[in-house]
Amino acid sequence: MSGHGTPVPMTSRPCGPLRGIANVPGDKSISHRSLILGALCVGETHISGLLEGEDVLDTAKAMRAFGATVTDHGDGTWTVQGVGVGGFAEPEQVIDCGNSGTGVRLIMGAMATSPISATFTGDASLNGRPMSRVTDPLALFGAEAVGRAGGRLPMTIVGAADPVPVRYTVPVPSAQVKSAVLLAGLNAPGQTVVIEKEATRDHTERMLQGFGATLTVEEADEGRVITLDGQPELIPQNIVVPRDPSSAAFPVCAAIITPGSDVLVPNIGLNPTRAGLFTTLQEMGADLTYENMREEGGEPVADLRAKYSPDLQGVAVPPARAASMIDEYPVLSVVASFATGVTDMLGVRELRVKESDRIDAMAKGLRAAGVTVDEGPDWWRVTGRGHGNVPGGVTVASVLDHRIAMAFMVMGMATQKPMTVDDGSPIATSFPIFESLMADLGAQLVRKNG
Ligand code: S3P
Repeated sequence: MSGHGTPVPMTSRPCGPLRGIANVPGDKSISHRSLILGALCVGETHISGLLEGEDVLDTAKAMRAFGATVTDHGDGTWTVQGVGVGGFAEPEQVIDCGNSGTGVRLIMGAMATSPISATFTGDASLNGRPMSRVTDPLALFGAEAVGRAGGRLPMTIVGAADPVPVRYTVPVPSAQVKSAVLLAGLNAPGQTVVIEKEATRDHTERMLQGFGATLTVEEADEGRVITLDGQPELIPQNIVVPRDPSSAAFPVCAAIITPGSDVLVPNIGLNPTRAGLFTTLQEMGADLTYENMREEGGEPVADLRAKYSPDLQGVAVPPARAASMIDEYPVLSVVASFATGVTDMLGVRELRVKESDRIDAMAKGLRAAGVTVDEGPDWWRVTGRGHGNVPGGVTVASVLDHRIAMAFMVMGMATQKPMTVDDGSPIATSFPIFESLMADLGAQLVRKNG
């Protein structure tokens, strides 16, 4: 868990070219789902390439608390001996999901249709985030939730003893909400139907099918209609977790803004529900190419090559693309600071309820570093200063948010003066090897107190 220890200030100094190969860790979304779905099978699921970041390790602990046997064999190989759909045991202790919204929301869904209760908590960031977006649909199955004001953690979920299937239209574009409802639907009889007006990451749908559930997706006038047959017997799988495009974003963007750079980021999943940043960077004129395009495990995969791109232009990122790059706006706003012209990021209200209010956190830090930022409830605009013209030279707050911390560390590689974050420790939630990986490419990152 992040945010429980002493803050670790971290500084990034302007550096020479970044060069080399960046092997980023496994996908966070797929890692959480591998552990949870593995726990819902009878038999042993094998996982290689699991992201061993704090968020995922908290989910592994939680699955043990619900009765699964989760074993770390070292070298990124894990096994999960599951308890089957409907087989969760009641945890004896409070489930601490640390910093992870994905962890807590998916687990709440997975346990909400079993006759057990569980109490969830997290760090200061997670305990400030809205949970009613998940507990509202879980109530339709018959589950009850008692938490703090505004639907915040700590919160107890009393699972439905006699769950009924639901038909639910997700009111916000959220893969976490969609996934919580689908996971709850697993232990309800009959068909659970989830409708999303905008497509969000579809790992839960793909993986449920992979684990043997009967799940169909239909594009209809009302949106994407996902229908799941309840009470399947899930079949244990061998899962090879692809590398995380959201982590790849950091070395890719660092190379694009740092003079002379040429970085290869191999084996990145380019599922269209995740790849919006790369499209946007290409529209801005970034020298970003896909090499060795191929299919792996039903997903498009490529090696990304990113080179220093001196002629970046600002763009308008349309609302329709938001879901496919929702975690990448912080680092995009950094790239936009080095572009010519304005970059508009539209239809991004969800950024305000992430690990932090990401528009607010980035706007404050970018302004302190000399960049003009305008914002509204669901949009923001960065006015680029062009290469070599971004002052930097300040300490900014990472507000318990890994992506804010990493975005400002990337920024410091190309500002005139170093950038410091007051606490780099949240980086360990999703990208524990960030410092060493970036240092191997040529970045100059230093922990101030360590
Ligand atoms: C995730 C969904 C997204 C994303 C998060 C991971 C997931 O959140 O921001 O980092 O794995 O389902 P929302 O569902 O809240 O958009």
